Amino acid sequence: FHVDIDASDTDKGTYPYYMLKEIDEQPNVMRKLSAEYLNENGDPVIDDDLLDSIKESDRLYIIAAGTSYHAGLVGKELFEKLAQVPTEVHVSSEFAYNMPLLSKKPFFIFLSQSGETADSREVLVNLNQLGYKSLTITNVANSTLSRESNYTLLLHAGPEISVASTKAYTAQITVEAILAKALGESSEIKAAKDFNLKQQLGFVATGMQSIVDEKEMINEISKKYFVDANRAFYIGRGIDYFVSLESSLKLKEISYILAEGFASGELKHGTIALIEENTPVVGIITQSNTAGLTRSNLEETMARGAKAITIATESLAKDNDDIVIPDVDQLLTPLLSVIPAQLLAYYTSLNKGLDVDHPRNLAKSVTVQ
Ligand code: G6P
Repeated sequence: FHVDIDASDTDKGTYPYYMLKEIDEQPNVMRKLSAEYLNENGDPVIDDDLLDSIKESDRLYIIAAGTSYHAGLVGKELFEKLAQVPTEVHVSSEFAYNMPLLSKKPFFIFLSQSGETADSREVLVNLNQLGYKSLTITNVANSTLSRESNYTLLLHAGPEISVASTKAYTAQITVEAILAKALGESSEIKAAKDFNLKQQLGFVATGMQSIVDEKEMINEISKKYFVDANRAFYIGRGIDYFVSLESSLKLKEISYILAEGFASGELKHGTIALIEENTPVVGIITQSNTAGLTRSNLEETMARGAKAITIATESLAKDNDDIVIPDVDQLLTPLLSVIPAQLLAYYTSLNKGLDVDHPRNLAKSVTVQ
């Protein structure tokens, strides 16, 4: 078969590491997905057969590992808010050996950049034996998960070479948003009809570009607060909590700093004991209903010596916020709030003199269980 890759896709060019190149490519991936999946009117072009299969089901189960699992958590918000389909998200290695009680008519979505992760494949093999239908959302056409499930949607992100996943995460969220809109529209759900995805993806692409253009400022924050830290925390609520999980994974993978993401309301129930003088705590603030709460949780950590750093959307920002990101629809803020976190991880790894693209003990695609 034929693979559509041009030389620039696998060439680092002037970039010191693939990770930085892949972070920078994200605005283009957004434009590419918009062109691939949305028609001139902005309506999603998705196979009717796939939409019908999902509409016959009573619950979605998203199965994934690592960064893809974190993209799945954001997907739950999208499918529930735009399409009103109850959605569960599961870590594949857990689901494989401890299957939860399923609904009467489940439909499964596999999220996998590589399409080869053994933990996810184990689940798919089991579900195929049980006769359940599934969709794989992957970056690799003809990958194992793609071949073995009923439907495939491609991420169109171009090859992702750095072990730490960046553009695949934002592409996964975008494809989930497109699918959620298609489902919601075909069920006449107002939230989906009112959601101007084409326009929003344009805002997202421009917003991403403005953040990557300011990368030197994020390098400074990395040098000041992260390079010498032995631990760090990311906090947020709702969708911001899901991004804090992904943000902390990025940091730990490539800088080897012990990092955790927390639901900001949970801090006081244990984790706050770990805050020491100058521990960096990043607060992600993009949701109007919880912004004030997360800010007071950040203050609690500051009272215990933490160095608080904020990533906030323009409309919720305060004068002394560290990183202000453009406003987009509140369901799509992960596409922007994750970019500074990707850059913080990148620069911290770089400033520590580590091999950004090849972190110790990790592989790009894990084909053992
Ligand atoms: C490995 C990679 C992670 C990735 C995970 C799932 O652990 O290092 O970056 O998120 O596998 O990979 P997948 O290809 O299934 O998305």
